[in-house]
Amino acid sequence: MKIFITGAAGFIGSQLAYKMLKSAHEVLLLDNFSYGHEDNLIFPDYDFRSEIIRGDIRDTDLIRKLFKEHNFDCVCHIAAITPLPDCQMNPAQAADVNVTGTVNLLEASRIYGVKKFLFASTSAVYENNTDFPSVESNVIPPSLVYPSTKYAAEQFCRSYADVYGMDTVCLRFANVYGPHLDCLRTQPPVLGYLIRELFHGRSPVLHGTGEQRRDFVYVGDLTDLTESVLKANGCDTVNVSSGKTYSINELMTLTARLMGSAIKPVYREAAHFWHSYPELYQGSYPISEDALNGEVTKFTCLSNSHAFEKYGWKPQTDLETGVKNTIEFSVRILNSTKDRDNVKILEQ
Ligand SMILES: NC(=O)c1ccc[n+]([C@@H]2O[C@H](COP(=O)([O-])OP(=O)(O)OC[C@H]3O[C@@H](n4cnc5c(N)ncnc54)[C@H](O)[C@@H]3O)[C@@H](O)[C@H]2O)c1
Repeated sequence: MKIFITGAAGFIGSQLAYKMLKSAHEVLLLDNFSYGHEDNLIFPDYDFRSEIIRGDIRDTDLIRKLFKEHNFDCVCHIAAITPLPDCQMNPAQAADVNVTGTVNLLEASRIYGVKKFLFASTSAVYENNTDFPSVESNVIPPSLVYPSTKYAAEQFCRSYADVYGMDTVCLRFANVYGPHLDCLRTQPPVLGYLIRELFHGRSPVLHGTGEQRRDFVYVGDLTDLTESVLKANGCDTVNVSSGKTYSINELMTLTARLMGSAIKPVYREAAHFWHSYPELYQGSYPISEDALNGEVTKFTCLSNSHAFEKYGWKPQTDLETGVKNTIEFSVRILNSTKDRDNVKILEQ
């Protein structure tokens, strides 16, 4: 298959590109490097750096030119603005990239006959759900900007399926972890943050009690399922999750043990997480503390029964092995990029 992968210099996109290459698919990669890194493109036996196209998913001329030239069988649309605070702080930009960018790719896929369009959605669309584990057929519309953009983009995928008969699939990823997880960005995903702080000998700041539980899924399991979905026919919405939950405290203890660190975390109230973004509290309508607390302390657990029943997929990687692999990669990056310009340690 000839596969176009967006967001390929990011965490998941780069791992997916490598997986598809190893499975003998032909891949064309695109990223605008707004969040991605060249480090992610280097694998022990392959280097994508000279191949990746530096471009924006919103660039209609570029996207149509690529689709016309390459006649893709599949699109894996992974690119997005993913950090929650960045989306909340710049909602128009988040909507532009996450929604308009997706529509731009759907439209090119329609015109140039792409057989399968896969969209990276998120468990965050279940933000307002209270029944667990969350199942695909039951999603209450979310409220915050990031999940709202993903929910809207999902709806466009369904629109192209309904109106044009296109084969579109929305994969709702739980909290993904594994090698290439970004531990350097301003607000890294939680495991990347824990590794970075422990590496530098600092106490990680945990918001709330640390007892909030999340569903973590390993990136290698995610790419396995993605390949099965690409080979299958039919539109779908699929949770990609371990179905198991771990508290942030449990993750902290495990990470510290595996890194040989005796450092303990410090705790701050849940909303403190957002105090680094004072603009959200300004203007005529300051953000609701309830919404912020809810996000920090939320519980996530997604049913993966559908992925098993339809694709025969079950996650294979246990948390300890996955965290160990993540640490190995992150420590290598932290050792080689101590002075990287974009490392801005937040005043926690
Ligand atoms: N990591 C997770 O836990 C998780 C969970 C749920 C959903 N997701 C979804 O999976 C996808 C990948 O997440 P990730 O963790 O790899 O994020 P990431 O930030 O590492 O990767 C996203 C990539 O998209 C690129 N990008 C952003 N805007 C772009 C644009 N306009 N044009 C071209 N490229 C652009 C970035 O440079 C980056 O390399 C996202 O769509 C995200 O919403 C991730």
